[in-house]
Amino acid sequence: MNEIRIFSPATVANVSCGFDVLGFCLDTIGDQMVIRKTPIKGIKITKIVGADLPFEAEKNVASVSALALYNHANPDCGFEIEIYKNIKPGSGIGSSSASAAGSVFAINQLLGNPYSPTQLTGFAMKGEAVASGAEHADNIAPALFGGFTLVKSTAPLQVLQLPTPKELYATIIHPQIEVKTSEARAILPKNIPLQDAITQWSNVGSLVHALHTNDYKLLSQALIDVVVEPHRSQLIPYFNQVKTDAIKAGALGVGISGSGPSIFALSQSKKNAEAVAIAMHNTYSKTNISFNTYVSKINTQGMKILS
Ligand code: HSE
Repeated sequence: MNEIRIFSPATVANVSCGFDVLGFCLDTIGDQMVIRKTPIKGIKITKIVGADLPFEAEKNVASVSALALYNHANPDCGFEIEIYKNIKPGSGIGSSSASAAGSVFAINQLLGNPYSPTQLTGFAMKGEAVASGAEHADNIAPALFGGFTLVKSTAPLQVLQLPTPKELYATIIHPQIEVKTSEARAILPKNIPLQDAITQWSNVGSLVHALHTNDYKLLSQALIDVVVEPHRSQLIPYFNQVKTDAIKAGALGVGISGSGPSIFALSQSKKNAEAVAIAMHNTYSKTNISFNTYVSKINTQGMKILS
């Protein structure tokens, strides 16, 4: 195989209570990438469609992660990367991770799969660091593993795959404003009160248990973030209104997707997720901010090979 076209999915990081550790993978939103082997050594970005991103190998997240793998593998060929962006940078649904994880997934395929998903996560984190200033893996891991993931630790890197309850669907609203991950991280407090920490780790544990036991009621009770959301929600216009209206429409829970501005909801059926999308749509239609809404099954596969 000399060329591969892949679907690189959007992802939701944090999942309310799991800042920097929890994430899940979306199905209907994602980029496409074409990677081909070349006789000339090195990594080259040859095409970017759909976003204004750098072509320089050391500046683009896709090539930075690709170079981390490439330098480790030291193959006797090079690779060209074409990126077709559908996930808007700065949207909060893992745009940089889709690029960073997509390139290493595709190159690994072209090399005959020498690396495990955990090793690929490690390479992709080098690219993610360029975009967000921090080597977090909570978008990369679900993009590469599929479903829900928990990053147990980044050094050493340990990713846990969590089960996905079958009836679970996500709704996303993406207000067309940009929130920079680095800025959304900078506003967070360095210390948190012990009582908030207790609430938060109780919710993370409960959420993981709910996923293992298909307990939608417990899942709903656990989708609460007392640590990050109170600060970041101020960066997202009408966040509280969207949340209230989506819960009224039957969502199990609502939170900020990654560092925002996208907002996610989880529901116990496609029908309910669609009702939540209508509720979010109605709320934002009353504002003067453009937006998109999406309904997606949880993608348990992650990356997909298209050809
Ligand atoms: N966990 C990261 C954050 C995800 O919330 O800053 C960024 O998409």
